[in-house]
Amino acid sequence: MLSLYSLLFSVSVCVLMVSAGPVLLDKSPACHSTLKQLHAGQQVTVHIPPDISGHWVSNSCEVRPGPEFITRSYHFYPNHTFQALQFYYLDNHCSQPSYSLLIQGSVRPQQASWVVRGGTVSEYQLSSVQLLCHGPATAHVQRRLESSCDLRQPLRPGLTYELWAEGRDCTRGLDFSMQELQLMRLERRDHHGDPSRQAEELFLGDVHTERAQRRLHQPSGYQTPLQSAKTAGRRCGICQIVASADLHHPPVLPPQSDRPVRLHGNWVSARCEARPGVLFLTRRLTFHEDSRTWEGQYEHFSDPVCRHPTFSISASGRYTRGAPSAAVMGAVEFTFTVTHMTVTPKDVATTSLLNVFRGRECGAEGSWKLGIPQDVTSTSGCAALGIRLPHTEYELFSMGQDSSGRSLLYNGQRPTNGSSPDRPDRRATSYQSPLIRCSSQQGEPRVGREGDQHFRLSAACDMKTLDGFIVLVMMHMFMQLDF
Ligand SMILES: *[C@@H]1O[C@H](CO)[C@@H](O)[C@H](O)[C@H]1NC(C)=O
Ligand SMILES: *[C@@H]1O[C@H](CO)[C@@H](O)[C@H](O)[C@H]1NC(C)=O
Repeated sequence: MLSLYSLLFSVSVCVLMVSAGPVLLDKSPACHSTLKQLHAGQQVTVHIPPDISGHWVSNSCEVRPGPEFITRSYHFYPNHTFQALQFYYLDNHCSQPSYSLLIQGSVRPQQASWVVRGGTVSEYQLSSVQLLCHGPATAHVQRRLESSCDLRQPLRPGLTYELWAEGRDCTRGLDFSMQELQLMRLERRDHHGDPSRQAEELFLGDVHTERAQRRLHQPSGYQTPLQSAKTAGRRCGICQIVASADLHHPPVLPPQSDRPVRLHGNWVSARCEARPGVLFLTRRLTFHEDSRTWEGQYEHFSDPVCRHPTFSISASGRYTRGAPSAAVMGAVEFTFTVTHMTVTPKDVATTSLLNVFRGRECGAEGSWKLGIPQDVTSTSGCAALGIRLPHTEYELFSMGQDSSGRSLLYNGQRPTNGSSPDRPDRRATSYQSPLIRCSSQQGEPRVGREGDQHFRLSAACDMKTLDGFIVLVMMHMFMQLDF
């Protein structure tokens, strides 16, 4: 494997022509065309290691586990130093700033990650972390800092405090961490050479879903990408507001009312999604509000642009809508049950793996064949994939809108430790990347019944039991040297 890694490292630039989207077994033509639109004619360029110099900003009010509501504005300079602004808020629309951090240090992208294919591992050092509180939140920040740091005087709003100095780290009380800088991926996208639609997105490492684990967490997935302030320009109003902010003048996003959470209808991934623990996938979910049933199609891939399928899962079941979340503003709680599941191996490695586990609770029909689905409902799931049926998960949903007016559906971030949210106290407090509503024309909401209910993703992949599987998938991945 080592020689393969060194080959990987020597690949400094790879240009992918993605001419067709992943093939979803899709009954909805609208979903299909949404996915096609997503991929068709786009050129994704990925550099390893990336040149991240520039100004990168949030394009939405981001939600971190906790929850924390945050916007980010990061400057990376050619001399490898950076200045990162993090703005924290009291509300889920990021319209009431609570405190801001100015983080300075240096960061150096190193080499291709062997944990997350297509990602680059980086090293960083902090030199300073400054805090500034805004108005009424000051007392709250004060209490959090008192527990971790000996504060000599009360915090005052509008004044700057150094939280990180020689031998003194006062950031613990805020669960502060910049571990996100350890993993990055920079994507450049061209739309038929139209410069006004060029986009650059910087993906930084994920934040652990348990706050206590954050500071030591080695990212194995990504957060919502940051946009290049230069290319996002006119298209993204929020990017402009965030880009023009500074420590003393935090971005104030326009206040708005929460969108009603309506799952009914068809939803697809907006991009090839990276799951912590090597998996890449696209999702398509359908919710039937009348019968309170759902169906999901999960296409798994070995590569970060979802071109090399490994296996797919079709699942279905029931769901019930719960109360508005008391923990996460703007979210609604749901409970999902998986009752039926079909697995289809899509490559040789996965087919062999499933055959190794044959007869051990994964499909009743004997041998697995490439491309041939098997129902695993009667064997109560698939032990090889760590899926047990019936399975119940406690979910969290909210809705939003992207800059071109499409409805977005967010559901809970999977626990970083690979467990599943199978108890109410394990319910997520943040989201994974959103799904977009399949509509016949992009930007135009479908007429007719609105109101969906969504479900949890990727049913029930338990990372611990997936270990053997992942090793196989990884070996397989490294045999395919394109990104
Ligand atoms: C690095 O570059 C930035 C921006 O040009 C500059 O402000 C900073 O002083 C430089 N730092 C060092 C250590 O050279
Ligand atoms: C994983 O995290 C959840 C909370 O998100 C916790 O309840 C559970 O005990 C953890 N499991 C393991 C094996 O660490």
